[in-house]
Amino acid sequence: MLSYRHQFHAGNVSDVFKHAILTRLLLALAKKDKPFCYLDTHAGLGRYDLTHPWSQKTAEWRHGIGRVWARADAPAALQRYLEIIRAENPDGHLHCYPGSPWIARQLMRPDDRLVLCELNKDDCAALKTVFASARHTAIHNQDGFQAIRGYLPPKERRGLTFIDAAFDEADEFGRITRAVKEACTRFATGMIAVWYPLMAPAAMQAFARSLQSIGLPKTLQLELSVYPEDWTAHIRGSGMIVVNPPFGLDREAPPLLDWLWRALSAEQRGGTRCVWLVPE
Ligand SMILES: C[S@@+](CC[C@H](N)C(=O)[O-])C[C@H]1O[C@@H](n2cnc3c(N)ncnc32)[C@H](O)[C@@H]1O
Repeated sequence: MLSYRHQFHAGNVSDVFKHAILTRLLLALAKKDKPFCYLDTHAGLGRYDLTHPWSQKTAEWRHGIGRVWARADAPAALQRYLEIIRAENPDGHLHCYPGSPWIARQLMRPDDRLVLCELNKDDCAALKTVFASARHTAIHNQDGFQAIRGYLPPKERRGLTFIDAAFDEADEFGRITRAVKEACTRFATGMIAVWYPLMAPAAMQAFARSLQSIGLPKTLQLELSVYPEDWTAHIRGSGMIVVNPPFGLDREAPPLLDWLWRALSAEQRGGTRCVWLVPE
C-alpha cells in the first residue's frame, strides 16, 4: 500500500538539500566526454505545481526552496541548481518545483540516458506526461528496488543510481542497505546516492554500521538538519550517502551545506556533517 505522496513535500528543506547535492553529482558526471545513465529508482511526479492544494496545505516549500531560490549571495556550487528552479519560474513568482527527474533532464547531454521508476500508478502516469516528448528517457511503473536488478549495470558503464525512497514501510533502512549492496555488486564503479531522513541517533548509527559492513567502496555521508537530535515533532533533517563520490565533493560539500544550513535553519539549530563513511 503506497501512502506517501511527494506533492505534499515538494520543495521542502530535504528536497533543497538532496537536489543541491544531486545537481553536483550530475554535473561531475557530465564533465567527462562519455555518456552516462541516470537511474532514478523512486522518481515521483517529475515536476510539482506549488499552487496545488496539497502543497498549499503543508506549505513545506515556503520553508525550503522559498527561503533560497531568490538569494543573490548563494555560493557558486549552488548556482546551477538555482538556475534550474528559476528557469521553471520565469515570472519571478515561485509556483513550480522540479523534482529529481526534471533536474536530471536539464543536466543530461544528447547521448546521456534517463531511466525513471515510479511505483504509484497515478504519479507514474503524470511523470510520463511530463516527459512525453523526452529523448533517451525510459519510464517504468515498477518497484525501484527491483529496477536495480533489471537495469544495472547500464550499457554506458558510467552513471548514477539515485535511491530516494518514501520511508512509508517498515525496515526501509534495511531494504536500502540491501539495494546498495546489490547495486555495488552489479556496477562496482557506478555512483550511488541514497537519501534518508534523520531519525533517532541510535537508528542512524545502526544504518551507518550496516552500510559499513557490506564492503562498499569509498563512500561519503552528508547531512543537514535544522532541528536538534532530540527533536521529534517532525523530520529534523536528512542525509545522503554517496558511494564512489566525484573527486573533490568532500571539500566542496561542507561550505555548500553550511550556507544552506544558515539559509534554511530559521532558529539556527541542528547543523551539517560531511564525513567519510568508508574512507578513500
Ligand atoms: C521521496 S519521493 C521521490 C521524489 C523524487 N525522487 C524527487 O526528488 O523529486 C518517493 C517516491 O517513491 C514512490 N515509491 C514508493 N515506493 C516505491 C517503490 N518501491 N518503487 C518505486 N517508487 C516507489 C512514491 O510514490 C514517491 O513518489
